[in-house]
Amino acid sequence: MTDVNVTTEENSLNIPKNYLNNDVGLGRGVYISTYGCQMNVNDTERMHSLLEMANFSPVQTPEEASLIIINACSVREKPVHKVYSEVGTFKKLKEKNPGLKIGVGGCVGQQEKENLIKNQPLIDFVFGTDNIDNLPNLVSQVFETGTKAVNAKFEHRAPYHVETLVRNPGVSTFVNITKGCDNFCTFCIVPYTRGREKSRPLSHILLDVRTLIQRGVKEVTLLGQNVNSYKSEDGHDFADLLKKVALETDIERIRYTTSHPKDFNEKLMHVMADHQDKICEYVHLPFQAGSTKILERMNRNYTREEYIAKINQMKKIIPNLVLSTDIIVGFPGETEEDFNDTVSMVEEVGYETIFAFMYSPRPFTKAAKFEDQVAEEVKNRRLNYLFDVHDKLAFELVAKYKDQTLNVLVESVNEQGKAFGRSTQNKSVYFLGSNDLIGKTVPVRIMTATPNVLRGELVQ
Ligand code: SAH
Ligand code: SF4
Ligand code: F3S
Repeated sequence: MTDVNVTTEENSLNIPKNYLNNDVGLGRGVYISTYGCQMNVNDTERMHSLLEMANFSPVQTPEEASLIIINACSVREKPVHKVYSEVGTFKKLKEKNPGLKIGVGGCVGQQEKENLIKNQPLIDFVFGTDNIDNLPNLVSQVFETGTKAVNAKFEHRAPYHVETLVRNPGVSTFVNITKGCDNFCTFCIVPYTRGREKSRPLSHILLDVRTLIQRGVKEVTLLGQNVNSYKSEDGHDFADLLKKVALETDIERIRYTTSHPKDFNEKLMHVMADHQDKICEYVHLPFQAGSTKILERMNRNYTREEYIAKINQMKKIIPNLVLSTDIIVGFPGETEEDFNDTVSMVEEVGYETIFAFMYSPRPFTKAAKFEDQVAEEVKNRRLNYLFDVHDKLAFELVAKYKDQTLNVLVESVNEQGKAFGRSTQNKSVYFLGSNDLIGKTVPVRIMTATPNVLRGELVQ
């Protein structure tokens, strides 16, 4: 292909700035298809906000769009194939409307760069995870010149300045505090797709939260791949940040995700306990595997015993702590015995929610090259077994909520008067309520409790 304007790590950024045309979107609709974690979901919001400044309007279906973007995740299973097959479904649309432009971003864009365009000619442009703010410029270029473009260069030297861009923040919103990851767990592609770890300046985060409060936000979730390694330019750590958000803003509720067990320290536990009026008692603490041998091969930097000791300490310090976790089954070299260690960990700790996945070899990662890969049917069997064990446990664990009165922050109420909100324990709660409750924290008495949903009634 001759007309690919490549701007990757190996090629310097060469998009002429004069392409930036704020009106390029006039009369054009944009449809963004999003996969992956909260980072990607938040990035999609950012893309919509930036494209709105270039006068694109969001549309609900690809059929209505002049611009389609796939914001793809590459953490597991054949993500590139998923992108190609989704793009394939747009073939007829492109035949009908040759002006339609298709772009790919997110972690797959970062990982594959120009390969995507080479392998799927329906794709017009690709952009990386550090290049979102350049999206209006890139899109202008693609529409105005009709050439293909790739912009997937990590901005290693640029500071991490990303004030939250969200169109309708609603009651609860995400605030990025760190980007990237330097941990290099041997199974994980994130350090390659999100680059080196960087923290936002503390003052920017506080300002962001205050601005969101003015827009009606009551709850923020501080977001990063490994929030506990947050480090501000003047030496404040994550516990300091959390305390400052609690004390120096009027936010009602604070959550955060994701924590790394090796960096979760006692100081943070005390900050959570001391500010429980604002900081929710729910912690997502991925353990990945219950066997120390496997943890070592994963490069997680903690043993089973260290993890359990930390959990016990947390349970002591943080009243009513609620836990969830991420687990990988069938990591290379995992024996039945190792797997049983994972099952017993789930039982011993008592997670109300688990996110468990079959190990999937990822490009660039060390574990993909390990020779003792586990057969697919074994991984499958182990995963199903783990879910069966956890399902039973989860029903037992949530039974305690029946007849309890929980404080629910109401996020929405539908036309039938069904109100939805979350409790501080991060439980989804449904009850009958009216529109004026949106944004308010109300007491709800729980009548039925299942692992994913609690149903109750408003305490008048
Ligand atoms: N930063 C977070 C995890 C981000 S990725 C942490 O360290 O906990 C989200 C989850 O995807 C991981 O916790 C892990 O359970 C899962 N995951 C990552 N790479 C994977 C792979 N190659 N195969 C299967 N699951 C994977
Ligand atoms: Fe991936 Fe490990 Fe970093 Fe989490 S801490 S993003 S699992 S490398
Ligand atoms: Fe996926 Fe990238 Fe998130 S790989 S899980 S979208 S950081």
